[in-house]
Amino acid sequence: MLGSLLLAASRNPLARRAVSGLPPTRRVVDRFVAGESAADAVAAVRRLTDAGLTVTIDHLGEEIRDTEAAAVTAKAYVSLLDALAPLGLGRRAEVSVKLSAVGQALDESLALEHARRICAAARDCGTTVTLDMEDHTTVDSTLSVLRALREDFPDTGVAIQAYLFRSEEDCRDLSGSRVRLVKGAYREPASVAHQSKAEVDRAYVRCLRILMAGTGYPMVGTHDDRLIAITETLADRYGRSQDSYEYQMLYGIRTDKQEALAGAGATVRVYVPYGDDWYGYFMRRLAERPANVAFFLRSLRGK
Ligand code: FDA
Repeated sequence: MLGSLLLAASRNPLARRAVSGLPPTRRVVDRFVAGESAADAVAAVRRLTDAGLTVTIDHLGEEIRDTEAAAVTAKAYVSLLDALAPLGLGRRAEVSVKLSAVGQALDESLALEHARRICAAARDCGTTVTLDMEDHTTVDSTLSVLRALREDFPDTGVAIQAYLFRSEEDCRDLSGSRVRLVKGAYREPASVAHQSKAEVDRAYVRCLRILMAGTGYPMVGTHDDRLIAITETLADRYGRSQDSYEYQMLYGIRTDKQEALAGAGATVRVYVPYGDDWYGYFMRRLAERPANVAFFLRSLRGK
């Protein structure tokens, strides 16, 4: 219930203005966001990669409604990749892109054009791109952009959301490529998505089995211990070595687990968001966990 309200608020302009204007919000946001500038993101990348982790960096922003803003986002990614190049991290630092931030809602071909520029800059930097997945109305368009990108950049990855009924089929279609499997973070109707946690978890395992049995590179995006244990069992069953799949977790969430898995030899990629358009991302993180809301409310009271 609280999660649904927060997800509704995540797309509401009035709530955006109210929450963004609260002075203590910034402190809480800092727990989940690496900073506002590319320099902040690069500093976080250095810290995390020095600690044996890998990263995927997200320039915050979504649902952009004008062509100028879409171009600004694409340029921000290219500058970020230019700033990463001297670190020589190669695939240890890749980027994640939301197509809605580069104009998908305006014109799919514009989003494709911007995504191509970002993929080309990533290739120059020795790395690659993963497309985030947004609400269910965008999935067909995102997969179509992905197919077009893969003609020139075959290693482009994509996120698939286990809560959508269609996702098992999508995993089958994509099981030879780089796929980040996540539970799904948007408020979706019962006509297209599983609603209960137990159903979503079961769907995740079905999708995971398809990806782990396939010939691609599964990116297991979860903080859930049970699903991590199941991944290890499936890796044994399908004879996958530790370098043939990876775990992905969000910046600031379960850092102890991130370090423990990396210490045990797994590849762990931390999703590092940065930028000033943090509202939608932040609200989805609150929605995932009531304890985060309590933390947020305590900080508003100055405790
Ligand atoms: P679950 O929510 O069941 O959490 C398991 C445990 O993890 C919790 O008990 C808690 O300990 C911890 N935890 C989880 N979320 C937390 C939070 N916000 N704060 C504190 N602790 C928390 N979604 C999407 O729709 N499109 C996308 O492209 C992506 N991309 C993406 C990338 C990466 C790297 C990750 C890890 C996740 C995403 N997601 C996403 C978000 C995803 O869909 C999902 O909402 C979250 O990962 C939470 O689900 P878990 O699998 O962690 O399980």
